[in-house]
Amino acid sequence: MGDLVRVGISLPSSLAEAFDAYIEERSYPSRSEAVRDLIRDALIEKQWMGDTEEVVGTVTIVYDHHTRDLTDRLTRLQHDHLDVIISATHVHLDHGNCLEVIVLRGEAARVRSIGHQLAGARGVKHGNLTCTTTGAALP
Ligand code: NI
Repeated sequence: MGDLVRVGISLPSSLAEAFDAYIEERSYPSRSEAVRDLIRDALIEKQWMGDTEEVVGTVTIVYDHHTRDLTDRLTRLQHDHLDVIISATHVHLDHGNCLEVIVLRGEAARVRSIGHQLAGARGVKHGNLTCTTTGAALP
């Protein structure tokens, strides 16, 4: 962390109480740490809303590998976007179910598009795109 600046904010007491309950639930060591995380979340969300900002995302999918064509379609989609797909981990959960975690890095618009295509592929039981950052532009 660089130089620290103290920022005072005023809140309605009911909002402050709700925020303190949130801090307690999340085990934050201080209000400051919780506020810093919320600010970072807002800045990352802004990066994702742009089209050309460089972002990092992870797609988690669960599917049955017996589902017709699904494994082929998921593999093809990843091979079609080698510049954005930077890693994939496959876990055999049981006889039929597989879990994959795919890491994507690139321009926000492409990462969003490819991430949603993977997570939303027909036959995927559960898919989720988590949006994060390269960290480079985040103080
Ligand atoms: Ni498997």
